[in-house]
Amino acid sequence: MNTEEISTNIITLTRHVLNDGLRLGPAATGDLTLLLTAISFTSKFIATNVRKARLINLVGLAGETNVQGEEQKKLDVLSNDIMVNALRASGKTAVLVSEELEDAIIIDDPYKGKYCVVFDPLDGSSNIDAGVNIGTIFGIYKIKDGSTGSVADVLRPGSEMVAAGYIMYGSSANLVLSTGQGVNGYTLDASLGEFILTHPNIQIPPRGKIYSFNEGNAMYFYSPVNAYLKSIKYPTAPKTPYSARYIGSMVADVHRTLLYGGIFGYPSDKKSKNGKLRLLYEAFPMAFLTEQAGGIATTGTSRILDIVPSGIHDRCPVFLGSRDDVLDLMKFYKEVP
Ligand code: AHG
Ligand code: MN
Ligand code: MN
Ligand code: MN
Repeated sequence: MNTEEISTNIITLTRHVLNDGLRLGPAATGDLTLLLTAISFTSKFIATNVRKARLINLVGLAGETNVQGEEQKKLDVLSNDIMVNALRASGKTAVLVSEELEDAIIIDDPYKGKYCVVFDPLDGSSNIDAGVNIGTIFGIYKIKDGSTGSVADVLRPGSEMVAAGYIMYGSSANLVLSTGQGVNGYTLDASLGEFILTHPNIQIPPRGKIYSFNEGNAMYFYSPVNAYLKSIKYPTAPKTPYSARYIGSMVADVHRTLLYGGIFGYPSDKKSKNGKLRLLYEAFPMAFLTEQAGGIATTGTSRILDIVPSGIHDRCPVFLGSRDDVLDLMKFYKEVP
């Protein structure tokens, strides 16, 4: 056996986050590390159910509708339950907000901790039954000084999050995380049961060649968006047209955007005045990661992370990705009536 090819010094998620904690010195209590360990456990649990879904009758509808009026899939409900149970049991959370639950969960003693987790347990539900990539998105706030945990602790701008990330369930499970010092990507080694650092310090290329919009909604889009799309599809020489890629799972579309560059957009339009994506557990975490990777995340006219939510299921328009591509889009919002 050629042992030279086998790395015996792999960096696991826990080792990496612990090292970050060590850098913080005595101020680091290890609580965030334990919370992230709980989240990485939930993602392994969800990943294994996603893999087996077709075999154990986990595809299809659960028979209920969530607060957004969407029909819940069995995996939406199961993933939500997995996360609520593990996050409560971690002893590190005070408030939980899930796409699938109308109200926030306030954690009682003896489990109460000092972090709030907002999450989309299963993102890309419409892709489940076709076996296309889906994911989990999360954002973490620390409760305010003096608070014992209430909804007010999460009705805060995304810039106040202490960490955000997602897990994408695809050919492998990938966890992408930022604790505010850049973005790192980890791949699940199923035989070890550990996430291994495979994408250190992810940086979005300053310009890409891909646009990712549900253009089936173009007849409802406002003119700045249609004018922008026209400019990248019918550019003036020597520029060449962009490629279209749209999976319909935000996690997968954002993952590709982080790695390859380009622009992802889910605008507000004449039908959906605030867009479709949810501020707390979709837009904020992805905006946090995008900025940490050197990109821009905007509503078209303002920074997403500056928005102050008024409700836990608020929505907002989202454009994010490569700096120059998003700046181009924003120019159209300024100049096209
Ligand atoms: P979810 O499955 O968590 O409800 O999220 C669906 C979201 C998001 O994943 C994706 O970007 C978007 O909906 C796709 O919407 P369209 O089908 O309207 O394109
Ligand atoms: Mn949904
Ligand atoms: Mn989602
Ligand atoms: Mn979801």
